[in-house]
Amino acid sequence: MEVIREPGRLRERSDAWHRQGWVVGLVPTMGALHEGHLALVRAARKEADRVIVSIFVNPTQFGPSEDFARYPRNLDRDLGMLQGLDVDVVFAPGVEDMYPPGFQTRVELDRLPRHLCGLSRPHHFGGVALVVTKLFTASRADLAVFGQKDYQQVRVIEQLVSDLDLGVRIVRHPTIREEDGLAMSSRNLYLSPEERMRAPTLYRVLRALGDRVRRGEGDVEILREEGIRVLEDAGFQVDYLAFCDPWSLEDLPVARVPLLIAAAARLGSTRLIDNLEVTPDAGPVV
Ligand code: PAJ
Repeated sequence: MEVIREPGRLRERSDAWHRQGWVVGLVPTMGALHEGHLALVRAARKEADRVIVSIFVNPTQFGPSEDFARYPRNLDRDLGMLQGLDVDVVFAPGVEDMYPPGFQTRVELDRLPRHLCGLSRPHHFGGVALVVTKLFTASRADLAVFGQKDYQQVRVIEQLVSDLDLGVRIVRHPTIREEDGLAMSSRNLYLSPEERMRAPTLYRVLRALGDRVRRGEGDVEILREEGIRVLEDAGFQVDYLAFCDPWSLEDLPVARVPLLIAAAARLGSTRLIDNLEVTPDAGPVV
């Protein structure tokens, strides 16, 4: 497993692989790896001949009052976790490698970021789109794997690839959860033991709401109010609980299938997000 820091060197490596006819897969991460990330790496391994994992805490996707400074960073630990997964290259650039002095390009999407997390994090998805565009060009990846835990993010990336003809196949991976249902997240490390015990309520509420929609309930106002009440009783401060179209992410006036139920809520100072896609045939996709 080779560690590369410079985008130009990563491009050279990938070009050499392509000359040999290999399919190159990329798994973008910000490190603080957990089983959710590792599942994405295994999926990339199945689909690609060569696998790149990027580890970069991207400053442009954090707002001024967000957790960029305290985001957990430990490259040695992350490299240890990737051992045995047959990763070819870890791309771990410094901020100055990705954003050298004089950098001024932006990548913005028009509509998808106006919903869900974009409402309270107005510049977040522009920062994600920018760094992912750079990661795609540096890695020349044929495919990239993203987790559905960050549902809006994967939609933004799919739209970006389509709009800019980037030619990268996006593979969606289902959310990996702890045994009690809590979606794995690097930010779970911030939770106190007491908050950690209450955290699974978020997914429990989504599941209960999904079951009710499946049984034919459509009144979004009632569903939302009741969901928020359960979350608040468990000590959450709810940022949003939305019933939306899984493609456009626009709010639906009446719940119907297919449906995305998505939520962001704080426990203390930790912001957790989760979602549930309610699909026509099978049960809820978890
Ligand atoms: P990060 O939060 O490190 O997540 C990296 C990838 O892992 C994302 O595709 C995310 O959706 C996925 N992921 C995280 N937790 C998961 C879980 N429990 N189950 C399945 N997948 C999970 O998302 C980012 O980093 C950044 O925004 C990035 C795309 C790297 C751009 O900076």
